[in-house]
Amino acid sequence: MATMINELQKQSKKLSNVAAQIQNVFEVNRLKLWYGQDLALKDINLTIGENQVTAIIGPSGCGKSTFIKTLNRMVEMVPSVRVEGELLYRGKNIIDPSYNVVELRTDVGMVFQKPNPFPKTIFENVAYGPRIHGINNKGHLNDIVEKSLRGAALWDEVKDRLDENAYGLSGGQQQRLCIARCLAIEPDVILMDEPTSALDPISTLKVEELVQELKEHYSIVIVTHNMQQAARISDKTAFFLNGEVIEYDDTDVIFSNPRDQKTEDYITGRFG
Ligand SMILES: Nc1ncnc2c1ncn2[C@@H]1O[C@H](COP(=O)(O)OP(=O)(O)OP(=O)(O)O)[C@@H](O)[C@H]1O
Ligand SMILES: [Mg+2]
Repeated sequence: MATMINELQKQSKKLSNVAAQIQNVFEVNRLKLWYGQDLALKDINLTIGENQVTAIIGPSGCGKSTFIKTLNRMVEMVPSVRVEGELLYRGKNIIDPSYNVVELRTDVGMVFQKPNPFPKTIFENVAYGPRIHGINNKGHLNDIVEKSLRGAALWDEVKDRLDENAYGLSGGQQQRLCIARCLAIEPDVILMDEPTSALDPISTLKVEELVQELKEHYSIVIVTHNMQQAARISDKTAFFLNGEVIEYDDTDVIFSNPRDQKTEDYITGRFG
């Protein structure tokens, strides 16, 4: 009887471990990246969890943008780039040259530092991606545009001016439009490279709130120079320095009790 209870306890522990386990969208193993002769990422190992916000922090030039651009292979736009290691997205190695990059960039969308809407109407900015994917039915496109703009917390502000040029929007609205454009192609992961650094404090807060809402449905990786922002909105934080991950942990650990002196120095503003 005692052994049976023991066995049952073991089984139940195993099951609760499984339930508590967060699925990984990305698993990065021994990743190295060179620009020509220069090693910009030196042996990166980390995992990115599903429905989590993962923040990447670190001083200028430490490899934050380079790292997130490897996650959808945008980094390949630089011809001298060479990558080594393993970068698993949902279990498949995206570094493999045979991996379908178009599909990858549909699954892994990106929002940039400076809002970069197309010189088109608000409607067309959001409808652009779905059209490229072959959706031409007006009713269907209307639905996608509304849903995406609602998802980006912009609908109420623009619903009466969908046919106006996107350049007429404020910077903060343009950034949310870029997020809507990203949502319109139904990504799985959203990469954001300093998405609020060009925005005023109120627009910044809106985007931060939005990130919190979006993580219910998407996994988000966000590069930020703003320590308070990382502390406010992320679940995990990776501290990069000189192309290496110095420390990667739950955000509250990184900001309240970091293990590495370099992390502590950075978050307390001693450098960077
Ligand atoms: N296209 C490129 N060609 C050559 N070297 C590059 C290129 N892009 C970045 N680098 C180098 O790679 C390193 C990492 O740059 P990266 O842009 O990833 O840094 P970052 O952490 O995003 O910096 P920042 O906070 O200033 O945006 C730097 O030394 C940079 O000079
Ligand atoms: Mg950068």
